[in-house]
Amino acid sequence: MSGVNDIRSTFLGYFNRNGHEIVSSSPLVPRNDPTLMFTNAGMVQFKNVFTGLETRPYSRAVTAQKCVRAGGKHNDLDNVGYTARHHTFFEMLGNFSFGDYFKDLAIELAWNLITKEFGLSRDRLLVTIYHTDDEAANHWKKIAGLPDDRIIRIATSDNFWAMGDTGPCGPCSEIFYDHGEGIPGGPPGSPDEDGDRFIEIWNLVFMQYEQVTKEERVDLPRPSIDTGMGLERMAAVLQGVHDNYDIDLFRALIRASEEATGVKAEGKNAASHKVIADHLRASSFLIADGVLPSNEGRGYVLRRIMRRAMRHAQLLGASEPLMWRLVPALIREMGQAYPELQRGQALITETLKLEETRFRKTLARGLNLLAEATEGMSEGARLDGETAFKLYDTYGFPLDLTQDALRQRGISVDLAGFDAAMERQKAEARASWAGSGEAATETIWFAVKEQTGVTEFLGYETETAEGVIQALVKDNAIVAAAEKGDAVAVVVNQTPFYGESGGQVGDTGTIRGDGFIIEVTDTQKKGDGLLVHYGRVMSGKVEPGDEVALEVDHARRTRLRSNHSATHLIHEALREVLGTHVAQKGSLVAPDRLRFDFSHPKPVTPEELERIEAYANEIVLQNSPVETRLMSVDDAIAEGAMALFGEKYGDEVRVVSMGTALHGDKAGKTYSLELCGGTHVRATGDIGLVRLLGDSAVAAGVRRIEALTGEDARRHLDEQDRRLKAAAAALKVAPADVVSRIETVLEERRRLERELSDARKKLALGGGMSAGAAETGPENVAGVGFVGRVVEGVSAKELKPLADEGKKAVGSGVVVFVGTDDGKASVVVGVTDDLTQRFSAVDLVRAASAAIGGKGGGGRPDMAQAGGPEAEKAAAAVEAVKAAMAG
Ligand code: ALA
Repeated sequence: MSGVNDIRSTFLGYFNRNGHEIVSSSPLVPRNDPTLMFTNAGMVQFKNVFTGLETRPYSRAVTAQKCVRAGGKHNDLDNVGYTARHHTFFEMLGNFSFGDYFKDLAIELAWNLITKEFGLSRDRLLVTIYHTDDEAANHWKKIAGLPDDRIIRIATSDNFWAMGDTGPCGPCSEIFYDHGEGIPGGPPGSPDEDGDRFIEIWNLVFMQYEQVTKEERVDLPRPSIDTGMGLERMAAVLQGVHDNYDIDLFRALIRASEEATGVKAEGKNAASHKVIADHLRASSFLIADGVLPSNEGRGYVLRRIMRRAMRHAQLLGASEPLMWRLVPALIREMGQAYPELQRGQALITETLKLEETRFRKTLARGLNLLAEATEGMSEGARLDGETAFKLYDTYGFPLDLTQDALRQRGISVDLAGFDAAMERQKAEARASWAGSGEAATETIWFAVKEQTGVTEFLGYETETAEGVIQALVKDNAIVAAAEKGDAVAVVVNQTPFYGESGGQVGDTGTIRGDGFIIEVTDTQKKGDGLLVHYGRVMSGKVEPGDEVALEVDHARRTRLRSNHSATHLIHEALREVLGTHVAQKGSLVAPDRLRFDFSHPKPVTPEELERIEAYANEIVLQNSPVETRLMSVDDAIAEGAMALFGEKYGDEVRVVSMGTALHGDKAGKTYSLELCGGTHVRATGDIGLVRLLGDSAVAAGVRRIEALTGEDARRHLDEQDRRLKAAAAALKVAPADVVSRIETVLEERRRLERELSDARKKLALGGGMSAGAAETGPENVAGVGFVGRVVEGVSAKELKPLADEGKKAVGSGVVVFVGTDDGKASVVVGVTDDLTQRFSAVDLVRAASAAIGGKGGGGRPDMAQAGGPEAEKAAAAVEAVKAAMAG
C-alpha cells in the first residue's frame, strides 16, 4: 500500500522522468493574483505563463501544490468533518505543459501513470469529456482503449474549467474511479452522480482560452495543459478506503488527536476529530505562509478555521488548549515534503496556543448563551440574528461556528438579522469617528475604510504582489479617477508596501496597471487598518477596480531591513555595555541610516562605543536566523521581550528574536527579543556590518546613537581609509605612522613657535635700548628717556615681559611696545618707578588705545595694557603716547 508521501513522490518522479521540471509549491497567499484569497489550484502560480505574460526556462512542469478552499469563491469550510472528501486544505498534484504537448500526450501520460505506475485496474476507470470535444474522445479511445459508454459527454460547466471569472480556461476531461457496486451512486451525468461510488480522481484541463472580461474570450498564444489530482482522494483509492480521512496521513493526525484528548474517533466524535485534523493542516500551513489570525480578510478566514477546530476540541472534552499539541504529529507526516512547516514550527505552535487560550475564555460562556437561546427549539427552527451577532461580537464566535454548532440539531441562523445587527454596529462606529473631532484629512480615511475594508499587508513575505485598486484620494477627496501628473493617494486591497510605523519609514516603489504607472514615494498607515500609498501618476489614467502589480523598491527595502535589525542589536548591546537602565526613547529606521535614542545619564565614552559596536557585530557574524513569533503581550514580556513603555499594543504582538548571547548572565540564551512589527533581515549576517557614528545628547538624560549598516557602513569606512591614506601621503609616512608623525610635527611646531617668539623679543629689545648705546639710544621726550617700538607677530601676553625688560634697560623713562598679531594691535606702556608721579601708565595706554581704535585699557601707574582692532595704526599709537607725555 502506498502512503501519501510515496504517492506524491511517485507522481513528481514520473513526470520528471517525462521531461517535467519539478517546481515547488507556491505559497498559499497568491503573489500573482489580485483577487484570489488563497491558492486553490496547481495552475495559479503559472497563470501568467499560460497567458504568455511570463516565460520560464521550461515548458513542462510538475508540482504538488498546497491549496486552501475556505473563504472566497471556493469555500468548503462548512462541509468539513461531515463528508468523506471535503477539506479546507489539500494537496493538488498536477502536470503542466506551456505550449508544449496538448491533449494526446496529456491523456497518454495520465493513463500510463494511473494504470501502470499506480496499477489501477482499467475496468474501474471511466472518463468524462466536454460534450463537443470529439478530439479528446478519439484520444481516449485510441490511447486507453475505452469503449464509448465509458467516455461520458458532459455539456455543463463541470467539464469546462476556469480559474475564476477571468484567466486561462478550457474544456476538460475528468477521470473517475468506480469504488464498486457495494457503494451507492451513479456515473457522472446520471441523476445519482453525487453518491460515493464514482469518484473524480483527476482533472485534465485543455487550456485553450483566456477569459479576458466576462464577455470576451480569446485564444491563448499556444494550447496548453493543466491537470489536477487531489492527493488525498488518490491516496484513498490506492489505499482501498472510501473516506479521505481513513488514509494514512489523516489516521496519524486523528490518532494524535485521540491520544491528546483520550477520546476515540467513533460515533458522534468522529466528525470532531476530522475537523481537528483538517483544520490543523489548514491553520498550520497558513501560518507558515505568513497569515496570522485577525478580524479581517485572510486573517479572519484563518481565525474562523482555528476557532471551528477549537470548538470541536472543546466538544471532545479537552480541558486544555489542544491544537498546538498536534503540531509535532503534523510535522512528522508532512514536514519533509514541506520544510516551511519545520521552519515555522515555533510560530505555528505559539499562534495556535495563544488563539486557543484566548478563545477558551469566552467559548464556554458563549456556548451557554447559545444553549439558553436555543432551548426548546426543534429541527427547522431559526436562531435570531441579534443573538448570533452577540456571539460574534462579544464571544468571538465567527458566524460559521455558530452555524456549525446548530447544524446537528437542524437549527439555522437568521442571516438577514445578523447582517442588520452588523450594519447597526458599523453605523455607530461611523457616528463616533465622524464626531471625534479629528482633522478632516484624517477622517477621510475612515470613510475610505468603510468602503474598502482593511488593506492586507503581504510585505513580510514578499516585495511584489498584485492587487485591485479600491480607492483613490486626491486633494483630500475621494475621486473616480486620477491621471498623469496627479499627486494621488492609492488604496489597494493588498500590498507588499510597509506603512511607516515603529520608527521604520514607509516603502517606496511602483504600482503599474494596464496603461498607467504610479510612482510611490511614501506609504502610511491610516484610518485603523489602511495602508495608503502616496505618489504621482507618471502616465495613463487610473480608476478604482483596476488590477495592478505592486513592486517595492527592493534595494531600499533591503537597506531598511538591515537598519531595522541592526537597531535591535544596538539596543541590546547598549544594555549589555551601559546597563539595563537603557530604555528606548525613539528610533528612526531610514534606508541610509539608523538613529536610536535611549535613556542614559552621561555621554557614552569612546571605549564604550567601541564595545557596543563590537558586540553588535559579533551577532552579525553569527549569521543567526531572525525569527518572528506571534504572542500575547503578557507572554512576550514574561519571556523578556523588550517593549516600548507607554506604547499601545494589540492583544497579539509580533515578537522578533535574533542571535545567541555570548557574554554575561544571558550567555547561551537569545540575544535580542523585541516586540516589533517592522521588516527584518532573514539572518543577522545579511546586515553585513554595523558602524556607529558616535553619540550625542538629545535631551536631559537622553542620548542618541547614529549608525550605518551594510554597504553604507563599508563606504563610510572606505572614506575614512581614503582620508588616512591622503594624510599619510601628505606627511610622507606609512599610514601606521601617521599619528606619531603628527605628534612629532606638532612638537616641532611648538618648539619653533617658542624660538620665533624669543627671537622677536630679542629683536624688539635690541638696538640701543640702554642709555649707553650711542646711535639709537632712548629718545628724550618731555625730558625723560623714551623707547617706543612696534613689534610684528607678538601677541598681547608676550608684551608685558618685553615691557619689564625695556624698563630695566632704560633705567629711568617710559617704554611703549605695540604688538601686532592677526590684524589686531595690543599695547603695553611701562613707566619706571621714579617717574610714576609724573606719568601714569594707565593714562598713556589710553592715548595709545584710542589711536588703534580700542576702548581704553587698564593697569597700574607703572604698567598698563590695552588693545585695538587697527594693527596698521601701530606707529600712530607710539606717537600718541609721546604726545600725551609732552602733554
Ligand atoms: N486546475 C484544474 C483544477 O483545479 C486542474 O481542477
